[in-house]
Order: sequence, then structure tokens, then C-alpha cells
Amino acid sequence: MFNVAEKVALVTGGAHGIGLAIVRELLHNGVKGVAILDVNEALGQEALQQIRNEFGDGKARFLRVDVSSRQEFGEAFRKAVDIFKQLDIVVNNAGILNDLDWEKEIGVNLIGTTNGTIFAFEDYLPSYRSGEEGVILNISSYSALHCHASAPVYAATKGGVITLTRCLGRSVHYKQKNIRVMALCPASVSTGISSTLISPSYVEIQKNHDFNPRPIPQSPEVLGKAAVQIIQEGENGSVWIAEDNKPAYEIEISFTRKEKKNLVL
Ligand SMILES: NC(=O)c1ccc[n+]([C@@H]2O[C@H](COP(=O)([O-])OP(=O)(O)OC[C@H]3O[C@@H](n4cnc5c(N)ncnc54)[C@H](O)[C@@H]3O)[C@@H](O)[C@H]2O)c1
Repeated sequence: MFNVAEKVALVTGGAHGIGLAIVRELLHNGVKGVAILDVNEALGQEALQQIRNEFGDGKARFLRVDVSSRQEFGEAFRKAVDIFKQLDIVVNNAGILNDLDWEKEIGVNLIGTTNGTIFAFEDYLPSYRSGEEGVILNISSYSALHCHASAPVYAATKGGVITLTRCLGRSVHYKQKNIRVMALCPASVSTGISSTLISPSYVEIQKNHDFNPRPIPQSPEVLGKAAVQIIQEGENGSVWIAEDNKPAYEIEISFTRKEKKNLVL
């Protein structure tokens, strides 16, 4: 089993919410260092202070970066390995829920996760891992699987994250690199992620068509624990759901051909 102890991790969106909980859980499990990449400088400094108080000096470094910028993200990877001289785990967690500004949402959630995944796969994990294996965990969402009708673009970005993860997990090319990539799909988590929907009419859609029954809001700490377990034990290409504050479970994704729906040529 992959053991996170003495490894070095990079966590995007690690200054708050689920990302910060993942950083803390990694540190609880003995990682040597964590690079926290986040766009919010103030939250980043607060997180660093909290980590210093809890784990002592030198365990975490904050790098301000907008993950949707390939150039900024690439520079942040470079700085992270300059600091820690090692990189074993990459968690692509940064995300926003803002269907009004869908280009930004796609930029952060899908392009940001793609940037982090490809940089990790192609350059940084093969060159800087300390052991035989590197690990990538991408944070998707339950919304992608259960069709979050009031936030369709958000759900689509998270669907893209699942597909990216599954394709790379199955690719022979990446298997040869000995890097596992997994996706975790949390249902509702109490983090304060603000949700901005496309229009007020979507509030009605939300009442009628979103999750029924509504998921129980989970604590970020539960997600931190799930993430570390998946990093240690998850199979390459696997997709996991965490809901109702219970341990995460792996899901199988398949499709069924619908009978009598063939087109006539
Ligand atoms: N909270 C939920 O209910 C929930 C459910 C399912 C999935 N998720 C996903 O979990 C992840 C974390 O969400 P959260 O609830 O902890 O949100 P959050 O708002 O508490 O934290 C997100 C962090 O990402 C950072 N961030 C935002 N845009 C960024 C960018 N462009 N570059 C770098 N950092 C950026 C923010 O500054 C913040 O620190 C997201 O991908 C989200 O979509 C959340």
C-alpha cells in the first residue's frame, strides 16, 4: 500500500474548506511537507498560521496561483519542487460554483484540474517522486453523477473531471509511468462554497429537481479522511462518492443500450 508518511504533497484550493481539511489530514498522517496552492492570499496566510500552530514550522508553504492559468500553475509546480525537492501527491481540489460566470467556472474547475493533472503526470511526479509511485486525486462532485439541474455548467465541469480521471487511469501510457489517478465526488459539504446559479428560475428547478432527499451536509474533515484513504488505497482510474458523513465508497460507471431506439438508415 502507498503510505503518505514522508511524502510531499501539492494541494490546490488548500487554503480553505475541503482542501484545507485534506492538507491537515495529510499532515496528521505524516507527510513531510505540503505546498498549498490557492488564489486567495489572505486565506492562504490564515491557513499557514493554523498549520504552524498545529504541526510546527516548515511543514507547509503557500503559493498564490490561479489554477486556470497554465503559466501560473506551471510556475507554482516549479517553485514547489524547488522548495521541497520532492513531489509524490497532487490533489486537484480548487473549484468554484458560479454558473453565472461559466467561462471562469470551466476555467477553474475543468481547465485548472487538467493543468494540474497533466503537469503532474508528464513532468513533476515522474521526476520528483521519492518512491516508485506517484498519486493524483481529483475532486469532482456528486453533482456530476446525479445531474445537478440547477447548476448544469458546474455539473458538466465535474463530469469532465471524472472522464479525464477515468481515461488517464485506463491508459497504458500512464500505467507505465506508475502514477495512479482517482476522483472523489463529495455530496454536500459545509464549507461555505458560494453557489451562483444561472438565473433565479434555477432556484425553482433546484427546489423540484435537484437531490431528493437532500444530502446531509458533511464536515470537511470527513472528506480529508476519505481523500487520504483513497490516495493510499484507491485503484488507478477509480471514482469514489462520499456522502452522509460516511466512509467513501467506490462506484462503477457503465451505460445501457436503450431498446428500440435505433435510428433507421
Ligand atoms: N462544498 C461542497 O458541497 C462540495 C461538494 C462537492 C464538490 N465540491 C468541490 O470540492 C472542492 C473544494 O470546495 P470547497 O467546498 O472546499 O470550497 P471552498 O470555497 O471552501 O474552497 C475552495 C478553495 O479554492 C480556492 N480557489 C478558488 N478558485 C481558485 C483558483 N482559480 N485557483 C486556485 N485556487 C482557487 C479558494 O480560494 C478556496 O480556498 C471544489 O472543487 C468543489 O467544487 C464541494
